[in-house]
Amino acid sequence: MASPVFQRVIVLGAGGSLGPAILKALARHFEVSILTRKCSTSSFAPTFKVVTIADDYPTAELLEAFKNQDVVVCLMSPWACESQKQIIDAAVKAGVKRFIPAEFAYDSTNANAIKHLPALQIRANIVTHLQAQESKGLTWTAFITGPFLDWCLLNGRMGFDVVNREAMIFDQGDQPFSTSTLALIGDAVARALLQPEATQNRRLFVSSVTTTQNKILAALQKHSKEPWKTTSVESRTKVDEANEMFKTGGDPVEAFKFLIMAVQYGANTGSDFSGRDSNELLGLVHEDLDEIVQRVLDD
Ligand SMILES: NC(=O)c1ccc[n+]([C@@H]2O[C@H](COP(=O)([O-])OP(=O)(O)OC[C@H]3O[C@@H](n4cnc5c(N)ncnc54)[C@H](OP(=O)(O)O)[C@@H]3O)[C@@H](O)[C@H]2O)c1
Repeated sequence: MASPVFQRVIVLGAGGSLGPAILKALARHFEVSILTRKCSTSSFAPTFKVVTIADDYPTAELLEAFKNQDVVVCLMSPWACESQKQIIDAAVKAGVKRFIPAEFAYDSTNANAIKHLPALQIRANIVTHLQAQESKGLTWTAFITGPFLDWCLLNGRMGFDVVNREAMIFDQGDQPFSTSTLALIGDAVARALLQPEATQNRRLFVSSVTTTQNKILAALQKHSKEPWKTTSVESRTKVDEANEMFKTGGDPVEAFKFLIMAVQYGANTGSDFSGRDSNELLGLVHEDLDEIVQRVLDD
């Protein structure tokens, strides 16, 4: 059987943190359109065809939007992750060939990671739902990327405050974890779609670098040319604090941040996937931490 060739790709949630990098990489190889909601405040380059549908993704409108599309890339907000089921079902009905779900984070097959961050189970369930569609002709590829290195550094999602030169170091700060830049993830998605058979129906781990919090801190100090104020915290205490915040109506975004860091920096959470990434399959080169940190500080 001849290998399927993808031409048309539609991207949902393209205006979020990851969307611009994915659009940029896909536009080099495919005819790309964007699906957005009526309530959306996102704006896109006029070079993209934009399809706007009702906020709750009605099936009839999805079917129309997915007509003649080969691939759906879903970059849905983590807060709306479960809506992907109805989007997948519509993709099957419309004859879409490949679905990329909104994973792009931690290993959702790792029991310890799920224990710290139960939201990962929702993502695992989405992949299970995709597996159930394989017999109906839909293929899928899910990407495990670790934290978005450049984006998370700038947004305080890794325990570093680049503006005030402060670092919150989890446990000893020496737990290795894999992490990817936005540009590498964009490339990974585009390259995977250029190799449909080798990448179908599987989770692909990709990374720019496998490093530790201490190594990142050293690079930040080197390039900012000043010492940083550091605080040591225990990930177990941060998990308890986060769960208390959920119970007492604290800021859920802040609470999630701590749970995410507990997975990122925790032992046996699958966050170091240096030995099992698919960089080679996709022709992706590992990057230099120093250069990435320098770029982030220059931004
Ligand atoms: N590993 C990491 O460090 C990391 C960091 C951030 C995100 N991620 C992952 O990357 C993927 C994309 O996340 P993101 O940060 O780009 O998401 P986001 O900015 O929160 O949202 C992306 C888009 O989702 C659409 N959306 C649909 N329903 C929504 C709802 N109820 N509320 C808000 N937005 C809704 C919106 O698109 P329209 O307005 O155009 O309809 C929105 O722009 C997710 O899988 C997420 O888990 C990973």
